[in-house]
Amino acid sequence: MQMISKGRILISLVMLAGSAGLSAQTPDPLGPTGRWSANEAGSAALPPMGWNSWNAFFTQIDEEKLLGAANKIVESGLSRKGYRYVNIDDGWALKRRTTDSKLLIRDDKFPSTRNRSGTPSFRPLTDRIHAMGLKAGIYSDLGRNTCSQAYATGGEQLPQGTVAEREVGLYGHVDQDIRLFFADWGFDAIKIDGCGIRAFSPDEEIVRSGRFRALKPLIDQASVTRSDVPAVRELFADINRALGRYSPDSDYMLSLCIWGSANVRAWGKDVGNISRTSDDISANWSRMLTNYDSAVRRAFYAHPGSWNDPDMLFIGTGDFDENHIIEARSHFALWSMMNAPLLIGTDLRKTPQALIDIFGNAELIAVNQDPAGNQAVVAFDSDALQILVKTLANGEKAVALFNRGMAPVDAVLTSDHLKFSGTREVTLRDLWTGEVSRFLKEAKLHVEPRQTLVFRASGTRQLASGLYLSEQPGRVNPADDGTVNPLPDPTIYRSVPGWRGTRGMGERPIYAGWGGAMPDATPYNQPLVVAGKPYPAGVGVLANSRIEVRNEGFARFSADVGVDDSAEDGGQPVQFFLYGDGKPLANTPPLRRGEPARPLSADIRGISIVEMVARAPDAKGNAVPVTWGGAALLR
Ligand code: GLA
Repeated sequence: MQMISKGRILISLVMLAGSAGLSAQTPDPLGPTGRWSANEAGSAALPPMGWNSWNAFFTQIDEEKLLGAANKIVESGLSRKGYRYVNIDDGWALKRRTTDSKLLIRDDKFPSTRNRSGTPSFRPLTDRIHAMGLKAGIYSDLGRNTCSQAYATGGEQLPQGTVAEREVGLYGHVDQDIRLFFADWGFDAIKIDGCGIRAFSPDEEIVRSGRFRALKPLIDQASVTRSDVPAVRELFADINRALGRYSPDSDYMLSLCIWGSANVRAWGKDVGNISRTSDDISANWSRMLTNYDSAVRRAFYAHPGSWNDPDMLFIGTGDFDENHIIEARSHFALWSMMNAPLLIGTDLRKTPQALIDIFGNAELIAVNQDPAGNQAVVAFDSDALQILVKTLANGEKAVALFNRGMAPVDAVLTSDHLKFSGTREVTLRDLWTGEVSRFLKEAKLHVEPRQTLVFRASGTRQLASGLYLSEQPGRVNPADDGTVNPLPDPTIYRSVPGWRGTRGMGERPIYAGWGGAMPDATPYNQPLVVAGKPYPAGVGVLANSRIEVRNEGFARFSADVGVDDSAEDGGQPVQFFLYGDGKPLANTPPLRRGEPARPLSADIRGISIVEMVARAPDAKGNAVPVTWGGAALLR
């Protein structure tokens, strides 16, 4: 099931002198490509901001509600602060006309779509939204049917007509529908769900009863190995190509919504602008934690153009309403730190000012929209308190202390957490209160239950001459993260699943692990240690991996590399290679567990893409984590 990275090349034995086992002309899965393979198409250099209809209205969306949100975004000043997408989720489609396969809109809910031709068009509505200085988004599904059709419990605004007419999803209609949405109707964004390729197997009651046509599931949400990963990926790649055709200015935003299934955590970044990492959020503290956990350790999987999406904000309701300002602020601060899309999900027409003020916190928006595009990294981790640190474009850090639990925590924030020097003063500015404080070496901070303290920190950087890779995850892309057995992610707190409640067996904890690349930790979230020597900064990744690093103006790459002490199979030799724009720069001899880390460095002046490759030709499974200790780009 290992994902095949783009651009495999042929590699000759000469290039690999000293490494084991590849014969001339063998396609080399880890061969350098000299290019950045994460998605850059579309318009998402910064995390998208806006509003989506789903959390507030589910399928009961109409024009009045939508324009109510758009008006409020403008009147409240939120549009000036960056909120610009107004996205219609599930519930807009009436049917697919059988004569020409054209999608028809529920014009009873969207009266402005009516016209003399008799075929409704969203163009007047998108024109209106554009005239307000905003952008418009639409919704569809990879399969023939959408999620609300699969999981309807009554009262939903569902497509009508025959089985064929109710097939409003993209399956078999990608070119026609994308053209309709973007070229004809003028939308700027699309969210694409996956229920159509998951919930319509021949044995499902909704299919057996004759209400829907069967489509063999490509996704099994409970099991990566029972999902057809290449097929799912190709469906999205096909849509991405169609967007290129019908949105030639590339002003589109493609939102993948397959809830972390089919190993999308590893490849969503290659085909979409935002990619959901979990099932749906709800207005419930523990569900928010589940969604947060699904994205917080994936900083290397988020870059300008391709962001992790832990789902829309649920501020406005339940545990995040105006009686729960602490929780609402935490939700917003965490999403800001993770570079999550800031998509408001509440009925803005009725939202109290106290919550509008949370959405409008310019300091946190600036953290989320910082041009460097670095998702926060977990600097201290526990199930009670976490400290997240995000390196900003100007060298400052945003830091959040998040109390997940029910008891207050007296936390200590150290200059080490911030990778700042301990001998120089650090200044903290509280992003909720504006209060400024200073500390030397460490600060004691009291964090109330469910509170998130969040600051902008300035100080003297520990690495004065450059940046650790873990301080610039937005420029580090695990093109192939070496995972052979893409197991579920063990670090997710599993609450009662929102959609299903306590029906079935639940989302059962699995004490195994995915093994994706990690900043300042091994792939299994342990400290980086080689031959007893700890590396507080670095990249942890499995062997047989290839990581792309963008270089903008640095002169040297430097790291100490070796097999991490946590390796299960310490007998495996691992060889480390560096490439610059596709050409070999440096490499190590084969190294085994227990051998001290070796320095690996190279001159990278004038090089745009550095590739870090760790090869262990005989390693089996996910057993060999390697450490790029202190990996940094230096001036
Ligand atoms: C799925 C998605 C939600 C929403 C609904 C619509 O559950 O995850 O965000 O789009 O479908 O039916």
